[in-house]
Order: sequence, then C-alpha cells, then structure tokens
Amino acid sequence: MRKGAFNHEYGSRRAGVHFPHPGAARTRKCYIPCVSAAARVTIQPARRIAGRVIPPGDKSISHRYAMLAALAGGRSLIEGYAPGADCRATLACLRGLGVAIREETAGVVEIVGRGPGALSPAGDALDAGNSGTTLRLLSGIVAAQPFETRLTGDESLRRRPMARIIEPLTLMGARIDSQDGRPPLTIAGAELHGIDYATSVPSAQVKSAILLAGLHASGTTRVTEAAPTRNHTELAFAAFGARVIAQGSVISVAGRQPLRAADVRVPGDASSAAFWAIAAAGLPGSAVEIAEVGLNPTRTAFLDVLRLAGAHVEVTVSGEAGGEPLGTIRVRHGDLRPIVLGHDEVPGLIDELPALAALATFGGEIDVSGAAELRVKESDRIACLAAGLRALGANVEERPDGFRVRGDRRLAGGTADAAGDHRLAMAFAIAALGARGPSVVTGAQSVAVSYPGFFDVLSTLVQ
Ligand code: S3P
Repeated sequence: MRKGAFNHEYGSRRAGVHFPHPGAARTRKCYIPCVSAAARVTIQPARRIAGRVIPPGDKSISHRYAMLAALAGGRSLIEGYAPGADCRATLACLRGLGVAIREETAGVVEIVGRGPGALSPAGDALDAGNSGTTLRLLSGIVAAQPFETRLTGDESLRRRPMARIIEPLTLMGARIDSQDGRPPLTIAGAELHGIDYATSVPSAQVKSAILLAGLHASGTTRVTEAAPTRNHTELAFAAFGARVIAQGSVISVAGRQPLRAADVRVPGDASSAAFWAIAAAGLPGSAVEIAEVGLNPTRTAFLDVLRLAGAHVEVTVSGEAGGEPLGTIRVRHGDLRPIVLGHDEVPGLIDELPALAALATFGGEIDVSGAAELRVKESDRIACLAAGLRALGANVEERPDGFRVRGDRRLAGGTADAAGDHRLAMAFAIAALGARGPSVVTGAQSVAVSYPGFFDVLSTLVQ
C-alpha cells in the first residue's frame, strides 16, 4: 500500500502535471472565497446529507510546493493552493525571507525562487501562526542559511514540542535556542552535514524538516522512519527535480542538489474530504461524491476504516499531479459496526481521528489507543475531543493515549467548544448533524486554518 514499503526512487519519473481531463484546472471552482466562519455556529439536526464537493487544495502539499518553489531557481506556478490560514502563514514567512510571491487569483500562486543561497535574513521573527508544518519544515530550510532566523507562532503553536526537530537539526550543525523545547526558536544557520537519523515519533513534519535540511547539506542524509508517514515531501522533491530514494523505512537525499522551478497543481485535501465522507457514512440515507481529491495511499487510510465500519466506499483514481494520485471518492451510509484502532494504524489516520470519533456517535463505536501524539496537536485533541463530544451528549471514555466513543445513545445536542482547533470544530459540526436538537460549536472560526468554506459547503449538503 505504501511506497516506502519497497524500494522507490522518487526522482526517477518525469515530474509534471497531469490533469484528469482537459481544462480540469480551470474548472476547479472549489474556492468559495475565504468566508470566515463566525465564532459560534449553530448546527441543526440533519435528516441526511447528499451532493458533490470539491475540497480545498491539500494543506500539506501546498506548504511543500511553496517552500520548494522558493528554493528553486526560476518561476513556479502553483494551482489549487490551499486557501486556509496555515498555508497563508507559509507564504508570509517566505516573503519575510525575501521570496517574491504573487497570488494571481484565488488558489493560483506564482513564486520566483532565486535558489537556496538567495534567501535573505528576515527583519522580524517569522510568524507561523497556528501551523506546525510551517514552523517545523521552515526550520529545516533556515538551518542551512548563513544567517539567524527567529520562528514563532500563536499561543497553540508556542505550546507544541520542537525537540523532535531541534535534535536532528543540531546534529546536522545548526544552533537552535528554544523555550524549553518550544517556540519561539532562534536558529543560527550553518554549513550543514548529512546525518543518519532514526525518528522516535512517526512524523512527516520531522522527516520533512530533516530532508529539507539534507537537501542543502554536504553528503547524504538518511531518515529512518519509526512508522510510515505521508510521503508528500518525497514526491514534491521529485516534482522540483531532486532525487530522493526510499528503501523500506529509510529515506535518503543527497545534499547540494539544485531544484528546478515547476508548474504544479495541488489536489484536493483528503483530510478535509474526510469530514464529508464520514458524515455520509454516519447519517442514514446519505451519499456524497468528493471530486478532484488527493488519493495518495499515505493519506487515505480513513477510507479503509469507513469500509470496516460498514460504509459503502468507492474510489476512482482519474489522474495524477506532481506524482500525487487524484480522483473521486463516493460514500454512502451503511449500518455501523465497532472499530478498534491501535498504535500501528494511528500515524496514517492522525488528522482523521477526531472525525472518526464523531462517526461513532451515529450508532457505531470506536476504540483508539497508541494515539498520545493527539495531545500535542493544535489542541490536546484527546481531552478537548472528549469534552466537546460529551457536551453534545456522547458516551466518551478518555485515556492517556486514546479514547473510546460508544454510539449507544442518540446525541441530545449541546454546546461544544472547538478549543481553537480546526479539526475539532469540523468534527463537532458533523457529530451535531445526528443530534436530536440543535447544537452550537464555539471557536468555530478556527475552520479558517484549513477549510475556510467548511460551513458554507455544509449548508449546501444538508437535506
Ligand atoms: C503534516 C503532518 C502531520 C499532520 C499535520 C500535517 C504534514 O503532523 O498531523 O496536520 O504536513 O507533514 P505530524 O508530522 O507531526 O504527525
């Protein structure tokens, strides 16, 4: 299922953009212009949901394309760039490093890179906002620059652990000061050298920070992954002309490789799509079609879980962009069965666990363990998820490394606080569709982090 499970040279195929059908890029009208949600949103119970959705551009891939375009020599054009605040933070940080970026129309970003040596010191601290991916991946880039950079973020990001990137980047030769392993980080860039490093946390952000640093280091950098994680960085390196080799769980990149500018297209975000797939799986009589969505197997494990839980799921791969498969997902409701997820499944479902917890409130059951990492996401996603679902009337058991949600009762409805966490806001909104009475999601404006149009799309799907 996963590329890294066998030997694979990511740079071995011609990079390029392959549209599923002519004109697809132009007709992709998912960009409901960034309508920010209100802080409190009321959700009425729904009979069912039905319709077709094109999700916003993938957040993980957008960050990577913007960063690689900034490091490449020449003009790159990114279509379908994610509209959320996280990916805007990446563009703002790159501008802070002197990169010329122009947003032509919604979702179309032109970046003129002048090569890695052409980044310039930022006058002020770079603010990654709520975005862990921005801060961790950029750390890998600035660690190799001959100047000092200060990286910070919002209150949530300043609570998140950074020792996981500080350790390998320091081993490569950078000097990094932090607040007890948390941002702000002050990174004194240096001439880096390649390392062999085994990650202790399965994290695509950590792997990517090391690979980005390795791209500009001397020698070869090898990362051994604790467990397979999303491989967008490896594919994006190839799309921008760099060679990366995956041999089982070891990913290697030779240093000092020049990147070439590329025109790339970002597929729809599978993690945003997951909310619609899960709502359709849970509400009787529902059916949704999600089109132009990324189908990278390192991101679609939630579809296997939906099948196991009893939903009807059909997937059609119709094309590929920058090495990323894309296509259509169709989901229909089915009678729900209990699901048990453990340590091995968690890395592939890390962003979908809140939504899968919401699914269980429709009459199924979910038992998740080995997921302590959820406690250091945008919020403590175990405590805040349990509190919010309980406030809606769910039966939730919270554990140090997971939770169990039993759909043994219909939700009454209530007020659930998203705790400033976009994925919790969307998970609570989905759960609330199945309640007996209306519910309120507070902190709902946080959806702007990854899916600014979420509530508008929801209103078009509810029947
Ligand atoms: C991401 C990796 C994941 C994920 C996050 C995006 C990425 O984080 O939760 O939303 O783009 O690499 P970790 O790598 O910390 O697990």
